[in-house]
Amino acid sequence: MDKVDVIVIGAGASGLMCAATAGYRGKRVLVLDHANKAGKKILMSGGGRCNFTNMDAAPKHFLSDNAYFCISALKRYSPQDFVDLVDRHGLDYIEKTPGQLFCEHSAKDLLSILLTELEWSGAQLKLSTDIKHIEFHDDYTQLTTSQGTFQCTSLVVATGGLSIPTMGATGFGYEIAKQIGHDVLATRASLVPITIQPERKAQLSTLSGMACDTEVSSNGVSFKEPMLFTHRGVSGPAILQITNFWQPGEALAVNITPNLTVNDLSKIRQDTPKKSYESVLSNLLPKRLVELVKEEHSWLSERSAQISNEQIEQLNHYLSHFDIKPNGTEGYRTAEVTLGGVNTNEISSKTFESQKQKGVYFIGEVLDVTGWLGGYNFQWAWASGYCAGQYV
Ligand code: FDA
Repeated sequence: MDKVDVIVIGAGASGLMCAATAGYRGKRVLVLDHANKAGKKILMSGGGRCNFTNMDAAPKHFLSDNAYFCISALKRYSPQDFVDLVDRHGLDYIEKTPGQLFCEHSAKDLLSILLTELEWSGAQLKLSTDIKHIEFHDDYTQLTTSQGTFQCTSLVVATGGLSIPTMGATGFGYEIAKQIGHDVLATRASLVPITIQPERKAQLSTLSGMACDTEVSSNGVSFKEPMLFTHRGVSGPAILQITNFWQPGEALAVNITPNLTVNDLSKIRQDTPKKSYESVLSNLLPKRLVELVKEEHSWLSERSAQISNEQIEQLNHYLSHFDIKPNGTEGYRTAEVTLGGVNTNEISSKTFESQKQKGVYFIGEVLDVTGWLGGYNFQWAWASGYCAGQYV
């Protein structure tokens, strides 16, 4: 029987950060993961270059049933703290869009920094370890695993959410939470592409592969970012962002020309009265989109001078209320995150310890804290991992 101070279940972003932090405090730390490799999501994130933080990260970029829960940790471990860490290791990184930091070369560079920190801190890592049984006692926890039995004073659950099961994601953290009497809030795939009803998908199939600036709104929240038509539906930053707020079954407002007003549509008609309106519009919008619009507005082929104000109004409405007919999402297979999770009202926002079971901690995405797209979710993993690592 091996006895250690801390066992961390999950060698992902939050687990590695927590383990190294505790290790540096002189704790004997063991990290267990059923996967054959640590940090698989780090490696696949940001198109292989990991958008590892967002310099603007603030509580407003996170969703949780308890909006106050994330404030303390985000304050105690800031994006700059993480940047200082990677700077000490000489990581090359770039700011792609304002605030969003990515590895310049590969996410492997970032994972290697975390594993180096883990090693320097003295924490041990055991991969390919299945946890079969957990026994909770007043002052210790015992884990029966495929690699032996272990006891620890502090158990950290850093098993993440349900997205990308092929990368090792499981609902194990939620099961542990339920085992000790926690409430787990309903989970849902998020930051995920939206699928389209079959008939509408067939109509929009010619747009597949086309990206355009859009303004997408749902439940009072809007994102003005690019959208991408795919062969399954729609994706791209605007769509991924809105899935944190939109639910299947609800309407989704899509303005496919947020930078074009009814006045612009009217003015181009006046500027070029002799040309077909279609050809004039093609200078402003992707040709494939104009073709699609023409299928439903045959008058587009007429000369600009002949187009009425009413037709311009109609066109403006069509573009600014573009009918996507969403019918669901691609689900956990491609989602970046999981909404919902362990109810944060039963977790200390200072130490991350469970209020139901002494010595048990929950960090990272397994908790009901979900960030926007743009490096916020990793910042939550670092911040919650670091803060718990100070107390385990
Ligand atoms: P994480 O998922 O990182 O780690 C959980 C660990 O627990 C895994 O190693 C897993 O194998 C292990 N585990 C699970 N069940 C277990 C069990 N039963 N027994 C033992 N071990 C178990 N975020 C961001 O900020 N910027 C970005 O660029 C991206 N990009 C991105 C792309 C894609 C494709 C995905 C899927 C996700 C992102 N994310 C992201 C989100 C980000 O990856 C995610 O929020 C963090 O990895 C969460 O960190 P955690 O440590 O909580 O879980």
